[in-house]
Amino acid sequence: MARKKITVVGAGNVGATCAHWLAERELGDIVLVDIVEGMPQGKALDLMEARPIFGFNVNIIGTNGYEETAASDVVIVTSGVARKPGMSREDLLNTNTKIVAEVTKNVVAHSPEAILINVANPLDAMCYVMKKVSGFPRERVIGMAGILDTARFRCFIAMELGTAVEEVHSVVLGGHGDDMVPLLSYTTVSGIPITQLVSSERLNAMVDRTRKGGGEIVALLKTGSAYYAPAAAAAQMAEAILRDQKRLVPVSVYMAGEYGLKDIYFGVPVVLGANGMEKLLELPVTPEEQAMLQKSAASVTKTRDELPL
Ligand code: NAI
Ligand code: 2OP
Repeated sequence: MARKKITVVGAGNVGATCAHWLAERELGDIVLVDIVEGMPQGKALDLMEARPIFGFNVNIIGTNGYEETAASDVVIVTSGVARKPGMSREDLLNTNTKIVAEVTKNVVAHSPEAILINVANPLDAMCYVMKKVSGFPRERVIGMAGILDTARFRCFIAMELGTAVEEVHSVVLGGHGDDMVPLLSYTTVSGIPITQLVSSERLNAMVDRTRKGGGEIVALLKTGSAYYAPAAAAAQMAEAILRDQKRLVPVSVYMAGEYGLKDIYFGVPVVLGANGMEKLLELPVTPEEQAMLQKSAASVTKTRDELPL
């Protein structure tokens, strides 16, 4: 059976780390694309040279063009800039819209059947750009955020209780911003409702820390944003698709009336398999959670309205 092919656009922190996880898990041959000359080629060669040590047998190439990306099964887009001092939110939106639109055009011209995973921020708005520009059905244009946000929440709970992270299950819905909605009603540790294990005061602190999880890492790193956990989350999405795992995970998808929301990208639980988003689950939520979801949807809609499309 021919190996799967994965393109990662943007060979910066998230892109290169993602290529690393993908290669180590032997998910397919990898093409790393960036505009910086030599950099994707150098990182790809470096990863190739790591193969004899850990014994993973996939090919990794770096390029500044798109010819080599042809017929990719999955394309992960991590190209985009983070906000720098003196840059307004609008500047960021304009710059990343241009990058994501241009990258999407190139990607779909060479891989018309691919499933696209967007990572660039502002996440939900950039997914919207990707869908518009690609013209792909919503099943094949998906954003990475919910797995990361949920992983952060699960991590904080496991740290608080001193339990293994595998025992902790939860789901964080909504836009990838400070209004995201960790659902306490679906949070359990080995089946035990979290509210029976942690005080509401500590729980609220962990919800708040999760919402600001991206900012916490930026404040520590000072020169960039998180990349290990984001890259792992994107790799998990790619794995679910490439191995047809039917994983039930929260990701950003185009809303067509579910949860009362239309024409925005929003984080909800879906089943990910060979066809991309194979099913979207509408969970019953408490009135309080529903109000928080509406608030999050309002801020995602506002950003969508500001898009220079
Ligand atoms: P980075 O700056 O390390 O890497 C970005 C790379 O994109 C750079 O190497 C740059 O040369 C490249 N690039 C820029 N324009 C390009 C183009 N037109 N074509 C190809 N490559 C291009 O940034 P990092 O840390 O990897 O983050 C990337 C993006 O992902 C940012 O927008 C960041 O905000 C976002 N992000 C989103 C997360 C999420 O939860 N959805 C989590 C972490 C990061
Ligand atoms: C994060 O949540 C910056 O969106 C990025 O780490």
